[in-house]
Amino acid sequence: MPVRICVPVLLLLASCSAGDPPSILEPAGPAAERVERLWWPMLWISVAVFVVVAGMLVFAILRSRKGTQTSLIRTEVRWGDPFIAIAGVFIPALILGGVYIFSLSEMRGLASDGADTDLSIEVIGHDWWWEVRYPDGTVTANEIHIPVGEPVRLELTSADVIHSFWVPQLQVKTDQIPGRVNESWLQADSPGRYRGQCAEFCGLQHTNMVVYVVADAPDDFEAWLANESSDAAEPVGNVAERGRDLFMESSCAGCHAIRGTEASAEVGPDLTHLMSRETLGAGVLPMGPKELIDFVTDPQGTKPGMSMPPSELTDDELSAVITYLQELR
Ligand code: CUA
Repeated sequence: MPVRICVPVLLLLASCSAGDPPSILEPAGPAAERVERLWWPMLWISVAVFVVVAGMLVFAILRSRKGTQTSLIRTEVRWGDPFIAIAGVFIPALILGGVYIFSLSEMRGLASDGADTDLSIEVIGHDWWWEVRYPDGTVTANEIHIPVGEPVRLELTSADVIHSFWVPQLQVKTDQIPGRVNESWLQADSPGRYRGQCAEFCGLQHTNMVVYVVADAPDDFEAWLANESSDAAEPVGNVAERGRDLFMESSCAGCHAIRGTEASAEVGPDLTHLMSRETLGAGVLPMGPKELIDFVTDPQGTKPGMSMPPSELTDDELSAVITYLQELR
């Protein structure tokens, strides 16, 4: 293989390490296992059909070269109608019918397996981030915590255009349609962070609409939920206090909520426990003070097209606001 082709291919393969980007062939829960169970037999059936059809094509080409035929129209009937009926109709119908019946039971399982659960989580797609709501009033964004080893129901909808919720290692895609609630469910068999992605083109930042499902041990999940459901921490120290006041007076509070304060807008992600999340801007940056500054000062440079305007605060004021935000754990 020439070097200029070989190197990009190797880089592509090297980037496909476990989990990132996620693969349906590395299932981490019962739904994804069903998908994998369907995928392999379908692949091998397709390979077998391709080999037989391509083999017959090559056979026909080689034979016609050897032949002494002068006319393009063959008048002599060789295998004739029975061959067409068997190879062209009966065998394909048998294969497609078999695959259909085989996939029906898996599809039924995909729909019903997660029905038996007490925990429902609402996931609302926005251009371009995910709002996540728990039954106890907890609101977060872009990272969905679930207890490991048990199914969790998802109620999926959208606030603007059609999005599609897809976590390849856990569950199939489900469309999120404005004005409609589609149900799905999640279950992870081992603790971990599973990357998901919006799977319906929804505009400029469709690629940067990443969601993480974090499967926690039951105690860790309870602890996470208890923390998330609480009001925001009071600022500690003068700088953080000034940061909070600046947040409330500036345009920040016009879009974001921080529970326990007067900021209660729901245009952008809830920031009550911002620092408990590992990424910023639906996966566009890792969470950290420097990234927060970049994000707030140049939102259009970090994530072009998003609704957030650049901050009007001075460097000194911004630094105080970031100090406050960093206390929101
Ligand atoms: Cu949301 Cu693509």
